Amino acid sequence: AADDKLVLAIPKVELHVHIEGTLTLDLRWKLTQRNGTTLRLVPNGPELKSLDELNAAMDSIMPEAGRMNNDEERDVFFESYFEGFQALKMKGDYYDLAMNYFEHAASMNVRYCELFFDPQGHTSRGVPWSEMMDGFREAQRDADMILNVKSAWIMCFLRDLSPESAMEHYKAALPYRDMIVGIGLDSCEDNRPPSLFEDVFAQARRDGFKLTMHCDVDQKETAGHIEQVASVVAGKGADRIDHGLNAADEQTLIDLILKRDVGMTLCPWSYLRHTTYAKLGLRIRTLYDAGIKLSINSDDPAYMEDCWILHNMLLARHICDFSDKDIVVLARNAVEISWAKQSVKEKIL
Ligand code: ADE
Ligand code: ZN
Repeated sequence: AADDKLVLAIPKVELHVHIEGTLTLDLRWKLTQRNGTTLRLVPNGPELKSLDELNAAMDSIMPEAGRMNNDEERDVFFESYFEGFQALKMKGDYYDLAMNYFEHAASMNVRYCELFFDPQGHTSRGVPWSEMMDGFREAQRDADMILNVKSAWIMCFLRDLSPESAMEHYKAALPYRDMIVGIGLDSCEDNRPPSLFEDVFAQARRDGFKLTMHCDVDQKETAGHIEQVASVVAGKGADRIDHGLNAADEQTLIDLILKRDVGMTLCPWSYLRHTTYAKLGLRIRTLYDAGIKLSINSDDPAYMEDCWILHNMLLARHICDFSDKDIVVLARNAVEISWAKQSVKEKIL
């Protein structure tokens, strides 16, 4: 198998990470202190009075954060993820959040990244777009200049909210379109297929944005989720698929993904919630061996035992027995399926 040094040293592109999912407990504590906000791990949970209490609460609520295997635990993930948003209010908070990610990224040789953000989780608390976007913009500029990490944003809609809310947010974000390369769809998938958001995605497509969607992240191993992957890929409704691991069980889907030349962003650590190492390794191998352009990513590192892109690549290597050559292929895939300008792509790897 490939050695650790190569996995660390290879220049990386990260394409699937939620900026709000990188809010480490240390930073959350710092921002909460700075803003004087009440700190809870989940809505209506007990108020936490120190960083130690915050750490202990996270440990107790998610004893093995990477291994949530039922719906209740999944709901706890979403509750704590969205409660974390409460710490973010001012431009400086958004700057610090993004910069904290960029510093981690630089330390793992990430050279370019596309970052998901969930504007509805901020506007709904009364945060003005300018606080959020100006903070992100300044961090993005400093990361490029100081850390040599380039980036672009993917604005996600929360699929449990209405299509009308998605459209409103889409329009409100247009003044910031120079920062935004693509549009995504995330949050809880239950009964919320991508087709509900057809109008806003069609509009975004006409306006020149790239499209991606989370598929089967909460995989309950039901056919419905496989259909979701198919519906997203058919007619090239999406330029990439986020997760979509269930495609490994369905040859017709693999064929469709290959035919449409759609890349996939996988986040191995998050799948340990639902599966075993052996099964996960087989599925990723199946997709990889079929020739699908897949990349390895971190998703929500602060909620997954602090597993960032490096740890996810090491995990993938371990469970799939990837060689040096495979690691290079994976890193190149990420460059290829990224939405970076050609001139940026050429400098990465
Ligand atoms: N948003 C942030 N993290 C997510 C996840 N793991 N699944 C779906 N939506 C998300
Ligand atoms: Zn995700």
